[in-house]
Amino acid sequence: MAKERTRKEFEQLAQRHLWMYFSELSSRKPSPVITRGEGCYVIDDEGKRYIDGLSGLFLSQVGHGRVELAEAAYEQATRLHFFSLWTYTHPMAIELAAKLAELAPGDLNRVFFTTAGGDAVEAAWKLAKQYFRAKGEPQRHKVIAREFAYHGTTLGALAITGYQPMREPFEPLPPGAFHARHTCAFRADEQGEALAKACADDIERIILEQGPETVAAVFLEPVQNSGGCFPPPPGYFQRVRDICDRHGVLLVSDEVICAFGRLGHMFACNRFDYQPDIITCAKGMTSGYVPLGAAIISDRLAEPFVDTGDVFMHGLTYGGHPVACAVGLANIDILEREDLPGRVLRYESELRGELETLRELPIVGDVRGEGYFYGIELVRDQQTNAHFSQEECDRLLRDFLSPRLFELGLICRVEDKREPVIQLAPPLIAGPEEFREIGTILRTALSEASDIMSS
Ligand SMILES: Cc1ncc(COP(=O)(O)O)c(C=O)c1O
Repeated sequence: MAKERTRKEFEQLAQRHLWMYFSELSSRKPSPVITRGEGCYVIDDEGKRYIDGLSGLFLSQVGHGRVELAEAAYEQATRLHFFSLWTYTHPMAIELAAKLAELAPGDLNRVFFTTAGGDAVEAAWKLAKQYFRAKGEPQRHKVIAREFAYHGTTLGALAITGYQPMREPFEPLPPGAFHARHTCAFRADEQGEALAKACADDIERIILEQGPETVAAVFLEPVQNSGGCFPPPPGYFQRVRDICDRHGVLLVSDEVICAFGRLGHMFACNRFDYQPDIITCAKGMTSGYVPLGAAIISDRLAEPFVDTGDVFMHGLTYGGHPVACAVGLANIDILEREDLPGRVLRYESELRGELETLRELPIVGDVRGEGYFYGIELVRDQQTNAHFSQEECDRLLRDFLSPRLFELGLICRVEDKREPVIQLAPPLIAGPEEFREIGTILRTALSEASDIMSS
């Protein structure tokens, strides 16, 4: 068991030993030490409660503190804590693979387990490359994703990630990844179907420029998270699917955030009515109780590996870990039993309604999202949608909003990869009461931010 410590002790130890992600090593501002979770709330080391408006990190679909999931882990760990999927197998991986195949659309019937989202993306790229090699098209190795899109940080996944400051320190990256236009409608010249056409055609532009015979796959999130929550304009995915089919390119739906009910469906491609060749997923599969990811692959892509002697040359010690798979099965059981995807469809308009009222504040430029997944873009001047300068952004987000939202008791994401945005993804067990609480805190913080930034 961890020792009881004071906040000061935690801060000193963290400062000295804990290398936090994407954070400065020294002069780090002290952050809350979260010690417990209950439903839609988390509690810090000093007993302060926060409403978790981000589901941990877009993953706690069933909420915090579910004893049933801890019991599933305990039972599996005491029966068989580990066996690998190399040479052997175990019942939990078989059962979960079969369950995912049942839930996934069309012929997505083959499940390759990983430990997280980035390595699921990495596995999907490797599978696409080896598939085309087996089909006699080894020159098809390039991939296309979108500007600002985040697909992970391991080198392959990072090459697919479209956010330049994250890529730069590690260049040269594995070659062959290109980035097309994202679908943000706010400030865009085109809207609706015209925007869908322009953005989908930008993918085709890259395919044609690179040579269709060299392109293996397009990686897209159903709703793009990074950059500030970009839903697809109407008809976008249908046009992208057509383009991919015309050029023999695979479509990978990266559902690391969007699957398992986040958008009201087990798999978010169903919300927008398109059939991918591979789904990559992680986070909500276990609600984050243990790490697990997967690439769910179509029968067509598996075909060159069936009874041919060809082997997909990839694997991970912890992929499809028995404890993780047991928790995944128990988590999906809760999602189904409590119909949490259905709950998202029932209450999503209330979340949207609550956030839309924030448009009354002069600092709110746009409110966008789907299901239980929203972004609020902040602007200097609502009349003109004028941008904040970098210095103003730092003052707004780092100096004011981040600490103020903690102080008011809301966990959410405040970021400026592209423009300043607040991102929300509450647990799927949340409803109107929690949305009101989130809305009230945001209204207070954003009203104050409006005053500060206009003074
Ligand atoms: C769409 C998407 N793909 C991949 C990843 C990487 O997942 P992980 O951090 O589990 O490796 C993320 C992480 O947030 C993501 O949002």
